[in-house]
Amino acid sequence: MLIQTEIVRHSPIGEYKVICRNAAAEDVEELYSLIEEFARLGIMLPRSREALISQINQFIIAEMDEDFIGCGSLFKLGPDLVEVRSIGLYAEGRGKGIGSMILGKLIEAARGQRIPQVIAFTCEVDFFIRNGFTVVEKGLFPEKFKTDCVNCKRQLACNEIAMVKRIDEY
Ligand SMILES: CC(C)(COP(=O)(O)OP(=O)(O)OC[C@H]1O[C@@H](n2cnc3c(N)ncnc32)[C@H](O)[C@@H]1OP(=O)(O)O)[C@@H](O)C(=O)NCCC(=O)NCCS
Repeated sequence: MLIQTEIVRHSPIGEYKVICRNAAAEDVEELYSLIEEFARLGIMLPRSREALISQINQFIIAEMDEDFIGCGSLFKLGPDLVEVRSIGLYAEGRGKGIGSMILGKLIEAARGQRIPQVIAFTCEVDFFIRNGFTVVEKGLFPEKFKTDCVNCKRQLACNEIAMVKRIDEY
């Protein structure tokens, strides 16, 4: 996936520059800290540094005025299915449309691979609805169960909602 986008946004407190770009090895510590913070709150699955290093190509980074502000990743669950994962922003980046920008870039990358549908397992239902996802039955995605849920300690008490967006229709 090849991502490099820059936009300048104007707000009542001035203008700020947001960049979305592919993650690189030197981003691992920043990614690790952000994901750990959300994992401690129970809103993201933890990722070890080793996993982040080996999966670094799946991640994109958002920077606001050249500071790391958030991330997101795209994980292939099968030939026709990808999952968006680990979308998160530090508090100062939220409420500015940056989450949607990250999600849009991940969807663009999935489209580039001709994948017809994207799923998310999330508690942020409104955010995904704003971005064209709909709520579906978790059981519809055995790929997800085999890859993640089977090893998850919250398996029987999972509070995440399954959401899907078809991306082969415009
Ligand atoms: C979920 C999350 C990623 C959403 O990110 P976000 O950037 O706040 O969400 P959006 O892109 O939808 O942006 C929404 C807000 O930005 C505003 N916005 C949208 N486009 C904008 C633009 N072009 N310029 C300025 N603001 C804009 C919207 O008005 C909206 O503001 P509001 O919330 O006050 O109504 C973020 O809240 C987060 O990191 N949460 C914690 C981690 C988490 O739960 N992740 C989900 C795991 S799957």
